[in-house]
Amino acid sequence: MMQVDLRNRIALVTGAAQNIGKEIADVYASNGAKVIYADINQEAVDRAAASYPGCKGVVMDVTDTGQVEKRVAEIVEEFGRIDILVNNAGINSNKHRVTIDQYPLEEWRRLLSVDLEGLFIVSKAVASVMVKQGDGRIINISSSLGIVAARLQCAFIAAKTAVVGLTKAMALELAPSGVLVNGIAPGSILTEGTKALFYGGDAKFREKFDQMLGSIPMKRPGESKDIAYAALFLAAPESCYINGHMMVVDGGWTAGYIRDF
Ligand SMILES: NC(=O)c1ccc[n+]([C@@H]2O[C@H](COP(=O)([O-])OP(=O)(O)OC[C@H]3O[C@@H](n4cnc5c(N)ncnc54)[C@H](O)[C@@H]3O)[C@@H](O)[C@H]2O)c1
Repeated sequence: MMQVDLRNRIALVTGAAQNIGKEIADVYASNGAKVIYADINQEAVDRAAASYPGCKGVVMDVTDTGQVEKRVAEIVEEFGRIDILVNNAGINSNKHRVTIDQYPLEEWRRLLSVDLEGLFIVSKAVASVMVKQGDGRIINISSSLGIVAARLQCAFIAAKTAVVGLTKAMALELAPSGVLVNGIAPGSILTEGTKALFYGGDAKFREKFDQMLGSIPMKRPGESKDIAYAALFLAAPESCYINGHMMVVDGGWTAGYIRDF
């Protein structure tokens, strides 16, 4: 198991109640960090944070500017600082797998408000703390679909592609203040959501399963821990010269076309 010394580090992970966010938060906590598990439901964050003494769950809707600012101030009041921020909270719209001419504007706005604007709102609040500290790490969770596009997910792709650019812009702006900003672009990760969608469950898109695996050179989906270890590396004291980088963790999916001619 990969180990990094995160003792005395305070980490805030958004969307940490389940799946990728929870795995990142758990891996940080098991490497010594005090982790604030943030999500939209108190009971869920309390449950998620329960295994790690010194960690806590907080309700923080990333789209609610006032609540985000209040929570960030409370965290600084209680823990003294924020060393690591992981912008993981995100949504996708499985109900609307349609082309842009049929894509509902309200769904576009709903996705962009969480996946892009929410990331901006939390980053803005936490960056002001980190700039004052003169130190910090921000890790933005994009997607392999922020690197290459696919059909029928225009809002998600627009948001995640924007996160790639925003990560670079933040990296340029904040590095002089000692704050490093990087991102992770996960490929298809086996979570409750993707299990239901692609890998079993209600099997709505089950017929796409082989097509999807066929485009991944490693012929398997990833797991939340694959993303968590990338996030651990990017938070490690040793990765201190990496800035503005989007680490793709997708089994080779975005490396190119699988073809033998
Ligand atoms: N699972 C994948 O295959 C995959 C692939 C590429 C990128 N990602 C990205 O990784 C991240 C996590 O994905 P996941 O599969 O674990 O998703 P998930 O839906 O299982 O978990 C996302 C969490 O974010 C929370 N959340 C939603 N809206 C929020 C809000 N407004 N404020 C705070 N929290 C909110 C949810 O309550 C949930 O706990 C997302 O940004 C997602 O886009 C996932």
